Amino acid sequence: MAVATESLEWSLPVPSVQELAIQRLDKVPLRYARDDLDQIVTNTPSNPSLRVPLIDMTKLVNPEFHEKELQKLHSACQEWGVFQIINHGVSDESLSNMKQQVQEFFDLPFQEKKRWAQKPGSLEGYGQAFVTSDKQKLEWNDMIFLKTLPLQNRSLNFWPENPQEFRKTLETYSEHMRKVSVSIVRFIAMGLGIEAEQFCDNYKEGMCDVRMNCYPTCPEPERVVGLNPHADISGITLLLECGDMPGLQVLKGKHWVNVEPVNGAIVVNLGHIMEIMSNGIYKAPDHRAVVNKSKQRLSIVTFCYPDSSVDIGPAEKLIKSGSSPVYKTITQAEYFQSFFNRKLEVSFINSLKI
Ligand code: OGA
Ligand code: NI
Repeated sequence: MAVATESLEWSLPVPSVQELAIQRLDKVPLRYARDDLDQIVTNTPSNPSLRVPLIDMTKLVNPEFHEKELQKLHSACQEWGVFQIINHGVSDESLSNMKQQVQEFFDLPFQEKKRWAQKPGSLEGYGQAFVTSDKQKLEWNDMIFLKTLPLQNRSLNFWPENPQEFRKTLETYSEHMRKVSVSIVRFIAMGLGIEAEQFCDNYKEGMCDVRMNCYPTCPEPERVVGLNPHADISGITLLLECGDMPGLQVLKGKHWVNVEPVNGAIVVNLGHIMEIMSNGIYKAPDHRAVVNKSKQRLSIVTFCYPDSSVDIGPAEKLIKSGSSPVYKTITQAEYFQSFFNRKLEVSFINSLKI
């Protein structure tokens, strides 16, 4: 295979989990069974201190509530690195169109979806990410990953033409997500007390990648992982739930906390770039996805990055005010290079520390 085996920017082809789920097996195949799973307790939804914070964007722009809501956002970023936003300004129509198209795509016959399958040497397309060994345990998840912004990043040969409205809808949706990222980054920067306009400007022409996840029903949900624990490498990530079945979990202290779907909300989680920019005041949280026996779950995940000319490093203002930088400042090219060439046994974020 013509791939650079020392880099991780590729993935081996693996079976479709949706196709497995159709077979109605009693047990999961060995390649999916994780008998090593850590049994960290998950929260009970009745414990409100373990509920992911909810931020109302209209309060952030309303002088009467601004200060209080900004403080809430700041604490959410410090204590959780994840929160949900409501009243974000994206129309219900845009959200529901996108959900509809993704649902229709995953509902297509396997042979049809395969027209947009990943190719050797690329992460884009329909398949699974980061499978680099035949022995590696697999995740209970099928996905399609597409780079959507800026325009020159697109590889349309991976963009489904079926369902018919898919491309157009994804295009509109990612523009909406980019706008949301600009306004959230503005408030995050305000919360940190750094130059808000300058920081959100970096996201106006920023890069967006979209990963659409399908978690089919599973005969033994407690023995598999939908998505392995990880932190995102983005600036921020915007996750849209397609239904009301929970599955996303965030690590808070020693607990995996369920992120309960809220109708109309978008889940925001901070990525490593934001952690670095905040000089470690904020952390990119570890999160994972679990699956269930009764209902397939779909999620649409948009990774938002500053535009490619922006260097990744702690905000100057935070350094000038006396603290020493915890992370190196590097170009985005260097940042992605370190990610794709990382040694799996070393934590990526630690490798970027001074
Ligand atoms: C991701 C992710 C979680 C989910 O795609 O990076 O964390 O619930 N997804 O789909
Ligand atoms: Ni993630």
